[in-house]
Amino acid sequence: MDSYKLLITGGIPLTGETYVSGGKNTSVAVIPAALLSDDPCTIDNLPDIEDVRVLVDILRALGADVSFDGAARRMRIDPRPVSSYQVPYKQSQRMRASYYLIGALLGRCSHAEVGYPGGCAIGNRPMDQHLKAFRALGAEVEDKGGMIYAHGKMMGGDVFFDKITVGGTINAMLAAAKAEGTTILFNAAKEPHIVDLANFLNSMGAKVKGAGTDTIRITGQKHLHGSNYTVIPDQIETGTLMIAAAATRGDVTIHGCIPTHMEALTAKLLEMGVQVTEMDDAIRVRTVRGHRAVNIKTQEYPGFPTDLQQPMSALLTRANGDSIVIETIFESRFKHLMEMRRMGARVQILDQTAIIEGVTELYGAPVTATDLRAGAALVVAGLMAKGTTEIYEPGFIERGYEHIEEKLRALGAVISRAPVGDHDAR
Ligand code: EPZ
Repeated sequence: MDSYKLLITGGIPLTGETYVSGGKNTSVAVIPAALLSDDPCTIDNLPDIEDVRVLVDILRALGADVSFDGAARRMRIDPRPVSSYQVPYKQSQRMRASYYLIGALLGRCSHAEVGYPGGCAIGNRPMDQHLKAFRALGAEVEDKGGMIYAHGKMMGGDVFFDKITVGGTINAMLAAAKAEGTTILFNAAKEPHIVDLANFLNSMGAKVKGAGTDTIRITGQKHLHGSNYTVIPDQIETGTLMIAAAATRGDVTIHGCIPTHMEALTAKLLEMGVQVTEMDDAIRVRTVRGHRAVNIKTQEYPGFPTDLQQPMSALLTRANGDSIVIETIFESRFKHLMEMRRMGARVQILDQTAIIEGVTELYGAPVTATDLRAGAALVVAGLMAKGTTEIYEPGFIERGYEHIEEKLRALGAVISRAPVGDHDAR
């Protein structure tokens, strides 16, 4: 139980200029990739968030020399002193992306012993496709006692993913970058952070082609050298800020983003009647009229991102009419809707489909975040609601949004922290 809760007094339109931080899901893939280098790497624009700080601990425990300046958002990783290939469960369970250490350690030293990952409870989230990829590249893999044991010299091979998986694609790229021979990944994920990882690997001398398409070809290299790299901005934070601006009927410009990464959300907001203006590296979101109800179906990139389904469903509670949300990626990603019922939201959930009735008002209430993006959805709902919302377990939000309270406060939000005591509602 977190020792503090967030307090949000809603009903205030967000206005002004803000900026987006470096991408969480790209950073947690690029940082482990530095283990593949023969010499130090410097990575810039990293968000100062819990998931990045957990990776610093894990790399240091492996023996790497890591310095991270959160304020400067710069990390220097010298993998040369790495002497271990073991990541115990108490470390790996602190985040989802710890499983990238399997691919990175297999690529670095043909051996990895890594505990099961943690991460958001949004579904079953098996790793069968990751293990399939490692085996296709020559690893012996055993899944025993909550640990993954993998070893074997990485040899190029073909991997056909039975389903599109971001994590599986990234792990296969990490294991294949230094393999002997060529690897082809078929039915690969196409997210922006897959392309960012490929660009980082290529800046180290790797030969990765086709990232961003469903077929990625990797010609293994014996040695990879150090690199100075800057990760891309966070697609999901950009989208969350866009949704918050629309939800509060405000006028916000988000700087440092990549508008082409936002196309699925932008199209939906325009369909709702929200004004979205794209600039080279900024997006302005304004509302000048009521919002039409729309239907959302989450898809792999470039479809509507599952990570934005939750904040978007908060916005839809105030649309004119009923909206239908279909979550096709994860089995259990509607918990935030059950919490928003406490705020007056009217939703029906039928398996992977939610029907969200547009209501005239949400009211502040005590609610609990159950995962990272559910927390983001509750923040958006709190910004919309009349009165004050208390959000318990806000630590989830910290995992993926850098300085989100300060950013929202700078846009006019009334948001603060308060200690959680025995008298509290949750
Ligand atoms: C990544 O999770 C992201 N996490 C998630 O973001 C994001 O929602 C997801 O990709 C989809 O875009 C990180 O990058 C750290 P998947 P990942 O493998 O890699 C199934 C956030 O909020 N599957 O693409 O775990 C899986 O169960 C987080 O930032 C298998 O069946 O997602 C899911 O149903 C939440 N077998 C679907 O595929 C496997 O071996 C997509 O999962 C792997 C996945």
